[in-house]
Parts: sequence; structure tokens; C-alpha cells
Amino acid sequence: MRFDLVLFGGTGDLAWRKLLPALFQSFRHGSLPAGGRIIGVGRGAMSDDEYRALIAQRLAEVEADKRPSDAEFARFAQHLHYLRMDLSQPADYAALRELLQARDADTVVMYLATAPSLFTTVCEQLGAAGLATERTRVVLEKPLGHDLPSNRAINAAVREVFSEAQIFRIDHYLGKPSVQNLLALRFGNAIFEPLWRRENIASIEITMAEQLGVEKRGEFYESTGALRDMVQNHALQLLCAIGMEPPISADADAIRNEKLKVLQSLKRWTPETVSRDVVRGQYAAGQIAGKPVPGYRQEEGVSPTSQTETFVALRTEISNWRWAGVPFFIRTGKRLAGREASIVVHFRQVPHAIYRTPLGAANRLTIHLQPKDGLTLQLMAAAQSQADTGGVQTLSPAALDLDFDQRFGTERVGAYERLLLDVIAGRLNLFVRADEQEAAWQWVEPILETWQQANARGESPRPYVAGHWGPGAASALVARDGHSWMEEF
Ligand code: BG6
Repeated sequence: MRFDLVLFGGTGDLAWRKLLPALFQSFRHGSLPAGGRIIGVGRGAMSDDEYRALIAQRLAEVEADKRPSDAEFARFAQHLHYLRMDLSQPADYAALRELLQARDADTVVMYLATAPSLFTTVCEQLGAAGLATERTRVVLEKPLGHDLPSNRAINAAVREVFSEAQIFRIDHYLGKPSVQNLLALRFGNAIFEPLWRRENIASIEITMAEQLGVEKRGEFYESTGALRDMVQNHALQLLCAIGMEPPISADADAIRNEKLKVLQSLKRWTPETVSRDVVRGQYAAGQIAGKPVPGYRQEEGVSPTSQTETFVALRTEISNWRWAGVPFFIRTGKRLAGREASIVVHFRQVPHAIYRTPLGAANRLTIHLQPKDGLTLQLMAAAQSQADTGGVQTLSPAALDLDFDQRFGTERVGAYERLLLDVIAGRLNLFVRADEQEAAWQWVEPILETWQQANARGESPRPYVAGHWGPGAASALVARDGHSWMEEF
């Protein structure tokens, strides 16, 4: 297959950190179709060779086992090209057209890794230049908008030019092997499905904790915050994967229809429930791995009186027959005590106790998403060392542990690599449909509005010391349901 991939934002942070390393890995694994061109688009003037040299520099900075040798890079470099463009100038799209026509590929991928404010312009210009043909696919990076109206406006503008089947909205969490495994666990195994409901499950906890701060993205993050950056997309996609009904097939729309139903069934917010069930926090100076780190308000590009949240914890419910009344807890934040993404399914206690068990111990399935990729099933066992105490035996928790990296090797395809290959192959399963995205925005909107009003009253997110698990109010939130957040995974 002959393909061209046009990387708008080809000299941007995402291209350097994620996209070009992922493209190199596909090349190394032999999955990048032979002869495909990767055309980086940027504002500055540069030759192909200068662009290649910059990429070589960046690839030399990735993890040791993912770096190319000189010979490997020389072969990869043959795929790489550069085009200077001013994205508002029709003449520059004519130059792009000329470059693309010279080769006449079967598939042309337009990857928009630019600021979302440019998505509409780029799509309009691509349409006007005759560059949106049935062979074209467009990839849109998150965040797709800032709120529901801006999300709708971008989607409407993109759909003026491309059909839904040509639009690939990225949520890189869906590309993670661990998230594939979550779907495989649910829909490739018969043993969990009968248990997967309110009768057996007490609560579900989704954690996406980072130790990193806002790095060099202070300015972007200031106007974004954790709710838009992580909850509206990644966390809700995980919640869909854990909560959705079994789809009738693995087809993109069969899966997306089920995810949409979950989003539509999420309990709606009122200002009262936002105040009660959503905790927002902001990191203050502290320590990460023994090293002092500044508070969020001291980060570059951040206002010293910022009211942007770097932490969110919330409690919601999926209002349907399967899940009514089961709390779903979501927690995400920067500068927390550990880097951990996982979903913990807490099963109910036995209905009648004949053994003694440690306080709060029950069956629990932990789905580790990162850094570990695996499953831990906590069972209760009669440990031999435990003596009978007055005829009542005490049980101890014991874990069944499955590590997918050990089982399948660590050389598995990474999230961006997987998603890029899916775009090139035209597989939409792991991409987000417009209606899903809108439903997610619709759900977060009342939280944003309630916070805006709180900000106007001078209220700020609750501070937490960097290197801890967030503000104390997050623990109080889950304690109401007799729960406590996992801190060791
Ligand atoms: C991105 C967010 O979408 O996801 C970042 O914009 C965040 O703020 C990142 O750090 C987390 O992704 P991962 O794959 O490192 O968990």
C-alpha cells in the first residue's frame, strides 16, 4: 500500500515526544508500509535533511532500547520529508497538493497535531485545495475543543469536509495494550460476565495518577485543567470500557454504540451534587522521589493566583439495570505519590461470614494499566500459619497475579504506534466518534460551570502537597461509601 502521512505540527511537542518515536518503532517492527512518506509540516524554513537531523537528535533521547542505530536511522530517514507551511495561506496548500500529486498515494493521512484552534482552518483549507478526497483520512488530537459548543463547532467544520468514516479522533489511552486487555478480559472470557453487575460489585475505582507536573506546558494547562485534560476523555473512556454492555461484534460502531450508552447513562450533575461529589485540588510545593518540586502556581506560564485544578476526584453512577447504585470513583492528578493507572473492581463481602477476615478485606480485581500491565485478583485464603482461634479460622488475603509484560514480552506495540497503524489501515475501533465526545462534554459541562461560579466567588481548588495522594477531601468523598482509595498497587 502506498501512503503519505502529513504531520501538521511536525515540529511540535507531540511530534517529537510521541509521534515520530512511534513511527520509528513501526518502521523497526516492519509494520510501516514500505515506501510510505512522512511529511512533517512546520512554520520555519528547513530542508528535508535538516528535519531528519532534528529527528535523529530527538530519537537519540528516547529509552535506550528504542533508539535507532545509525544504519537504521539512515533507512528510516528515507521516509522523512519536510514542508514549510503557513496554515492560513491557500498557496501553501497548493504546494502540499503538488507534493502529494507527485506520488499519488492510495491513502493520505492528515494528522492534525496542532493547537485545536487551527483544526477548522486546516480542514477548510484542505477542502478548498481539493485535498479532501475519498482517499484522505484526518486524525484529530485531543483536546477537541474547550467545552461542548467549541467541540460541536470543530466537529461540524470537520464534517463539512470529511465523512465520519474518515475522521480519527485520538484518545491515546484506547491504544494502550492494557486497555485492549481490559476489553479482552470482559468479552473474551465467560467467567467474569455473570459477576459484572450491581449484585456482586460494591464499587469501582479508576485511578490515573502522575508524578509529573505540568512540565513545559504551563500555559496550555492553565486554560485546560485536569477535568478537561484527563477526565473528559481518558477517564471516561476507561469507565466506558469497564461499564459497557457486551457489543454485538468487534466492529467500530458496535463498540462505540455501547460506549455512547454508558456516557448517556451517567448520572447528571446539579450544582449541589458537584459540590458534594467532585473534589478539585491543586498541587503545592513538595517532594517527588525525595527531590523538592515547586507548586503549580510557581510553574512557568502559570498565574500565581491560578484557580486551575491539577487534581480531580469524583463519585458518579451509571444509571442502568446493570449498575444502578454502584459508585464509580475517578481520581486523577499531577504530582501525586506514584505513577499509576489502574481500575479496581471491589466485589461485595460474603453474605454470611463463617470465617474471620481482616477488616475491609474482600475479593478485588485490579486491572493494572501502567506502569505494570496485568491483573491481580485478591482472594481470601486459609494461610497455614494462621492458627484456629476459638474455632473461628482467620483468613488472609492472597493474590493471583498476571503480568502481561512477562507473559507476552515487553516488545508489544505501544499506544501511538498501534493507533497510527490503525489509521493507515483504516480501522476505526479505537477512535472516538463525535457523539461519544459530545456526550462526554455534555456530562462535564455542569462541573465546569459550577467551578466557574465558585471561582467568581473567589474559591480555589484545595491545595495538596506534591508527592501525596491529593487533598484530604478526596478521602472523605469515598469514605461516605465506606471506601478508601488504594495507595499500594
Ligand atoms: C495526555 C495529557 O493526554 O495524557 C497529559 O494531556 C498527560 O497531561 C498524559 O500527562 C498522560 O498519558 P500517559 O500515557 O503518560 O498516562
